[in-house]
Amino acid sequence: MKKLSDERLLELGLNPKLMPAHVAIIMDGNGRWAKKHGALRSIGHRAGVNRLREIIRFSSDAGISALTLYAFSTENWKRPDSELAVLFGLLIEYFNGEIDELDENEVCIRAIGELSAFPDEVRSAVENAEARTRRNKGLKLNIALNYGAQLEILRAVRALCKSAIESGELPTQADFENALYTAGLPELDLLIRTSGEMRLSNYLLYQAAYAELYFTEVLWPDFTKSEYIRAIAEFQRRNRRFGGVE
Ligand code: FPP
Repeated sequence: MKKLSDERLLELGLNPKLMPAHVAIIMDGNGRWAKKHGALRSIGHRAGVNRLREIIRFSSDAGISALTLYAFSTENWKRPDSELAVLFGLLIEYFNGEIDELDENEVCIRAIGELSAFPDEVRSAVENAEARTRRNKGLKLNIALNYGAQLEILRAVRALCKSAIESGELPTQADFENALYTAGLPELDLLIRTSGEMRLSNYLLYQAAYAELYFTEVLWPDFTKSEYIRAIAEFQRRNRRFGGVE
């Protein structure tokens, strides 16, 4: 729910009329942050989780409709088992520990991706958070878990082929969009990637068609609310033409 007044947003350097409806973030750089601080990678991931609260809170307070976070990709299974265990532990802790506050703030949580591959404890923490917040009318918080855009597209194509065979009708663009995980969400406006990497890494490839891309050198655990505001202010300065002319 929007809690910040237009005056407050203006004070923060943001134009209340040009707020993005849907922001996605590739939260990269936890490992490098840990290295920089002479700490274990697990400490970097914990610092990354700690950064979430402020970013989610601001999104909700600023009236952003949807925030889609890349927490675990279909390629992240390549990491050592010990690191996977740390990430799974953090996911369980996060969903069980934050659920009350998220629910109080009317946040609606949804996982996007193939959840079935996760251990039961991770799955039930996520599903419990989804079930508890399903009816909430505030920020739509989508957590990409075992998500990959290529798999998402393939999955949609397979489902559409099946229904085309049954109905004899070819799918429309709207049918295709409805078959993606992001069905029903506003169009993606802003995609942020931290840590200086300049690629999409199989994230929201279809949805990013007209999103503004924002890359920053800042490592995810250092991505504060003011860094987020800087990204949104930059988004507001972009001239979006969607293929047309001014
Ligand atoms: C990238 O840093 C980060 C990840 C692969 C995991 C992102 C996950 C979190 C921030 C925590 C879990 C999320 C939730 C919703 C509880 P990296 O390890 O690739 O960093 P590096 O490139 O510097 O090594």
